[in-house]
Amino acid sequence: MVSELDLDGGLIGGGPRVLAAFLFGGIVVLGASMLGLYHGFPLPQLGLGPVGMRRKKKVRVYMDGCFDMMHYGHCNALRQARSLGDELVVGVVSDEEITANKGPPVTPLRERMIMVGAVKWVDEVIPDAPYAITKEFMYKLFNEYNIDYIIHGDDPCLLPDGTDAYELAKRAGRYKQIKRTEGVSSTDIVGRMLLCVRERSSGDSNSHSSLQRQFSHGHGQKIEDRGYGSGTRVSHFLPTSRRIVQFSNGKGPGPDARIVYIDGAFDLFHAGHVEILRIARGLGDFLLVGIHPDQIVSSNRGAHRPIMNLHERSLSVLACRYVDEVIIGAPWEVSKDMITTFNISLVVHGTIAENNDFQKGKCDPYAVPIEMGIYRQLDSPLDLTTSTIIKRIVSNHEAYQKRNEKKAESERRYYEDKTYVAGD
Ligand SMILES: *[C@@H]1O[C@H](CO)[C@@H](O)[C@H](O)[C@H]1NC(C)=O
Repeated sequence: MVSELDLDGGLIGGGPRVLAAFLFGGIVVLGASMLGLYHGFPLPQLGLGPVGMRRKKKVRVYMDGCFDMMHYGHCNALRQARSLGDELVVGVVSDEEITANKGPPVTPLRERMIMVGAVKWVDEVIPDAPYAITKEFMYKLFNEYNIDYIIHGDDPCLLPDGTDAYELAKRAGRYKQIKRTEGVSSTDIVGRMLLCVRERSSGDSNSHSSLQRQFSHGHGQKIEDRGYGSGTRVSHFLPTSRRIVQFSNGKGPGPDARIVYIDGAFDLFHAGHVEILRIARGLGDFLLVGIHPDQIVSSNRGAHRPIMNLHERSLSVLACRYVDEVIIGAPWEVSKDMITTFNISLVVHGTIAENNDFQKGKCDPYAVPIEMGIYRQLDSPLDLTTSTIIKRIVSNHEAYQKRNEKKAESERRYYEDKTYVAGD
């Protein structure tokens, strides 16, 4: 799944030398690379040369991560990274490396690759990034992958010997930093899942109802988590209109576009969702995704669902390259009025879903499109549901608990120390 290196035609061969010049700072090297590049052509005017070349060459930025249990916070980091260049290359850490460094990942590499590759700000994916960036790998990025800048979040990243992992890139002037996304972390999401499982297995009706309230009201309040030892957990996510705009494509369907509609909860957005969206998008020119509000999800799947609230789910879906537009809070039934309003040509639904019981029931939400002859069921390529994801966590949950406690502590410290954070 490694994409081909997409080298800018005229600069093949010149690229690495230009980069080498920037790394080692020699004007002589730059001159040589100019001659090489413009071999057989009139040389550009002195003084304009290198600048002009830099302008023509696409700025390639690199970011890496585990992307285990990927969520819109990761997507936002990728968006920010992409905004620092023209092309974003993402390194995904292998299962072996994650296992060796912090215990087995919940999501296998194959699925993590699908998830990262589907984010609309990602241009290339590298599947075997090291957990801690090594000198050799950094040179490989600069020289083979033609990376101009390595991007990392504002949390410190230390090597086992205590030195800064990005020291080399920083010294070469090839390092840029982005702000950590406020209000979301895998730790927080795992916490929600553990609570959800605990709620189901607990006979304690008192904690049961308080958790129910927690999950049906969008995770906003402080909760006491007596059983899992991580203390008070607070969700910090505050959706702003600007964030939604940043995630949006900002364009409607073109004239004569064939509009495909798919709806669902899209809770804990996973590779199964990505794959069905990819297929749905392939059936038309514009994919409109209806995301059910929290109350509809709760009433269909239980009070402990959804794990992610409507706004969080919307951001995850919006970040997917196959999605053109979302309805934030779509109705359960696809009505004639909706089909007319959005000029929907085709309504689709996957074979793998958490709850396909409605098909046996009396009020099929797709009755109208079925009657109009514009409904199609799609074979889901992956046998994955939100419950699969939750089950994976649960089966590992002892290990997660330990990790969770450690990370929760460092996150608590981050929030205690934090000051104003610029929104981008
Ligand atoms: C509605 O969709 C069809 C394609 O299915 C397209 O030909 C038509 O132009 C669209 N109508 C409008 C008003 O955009």
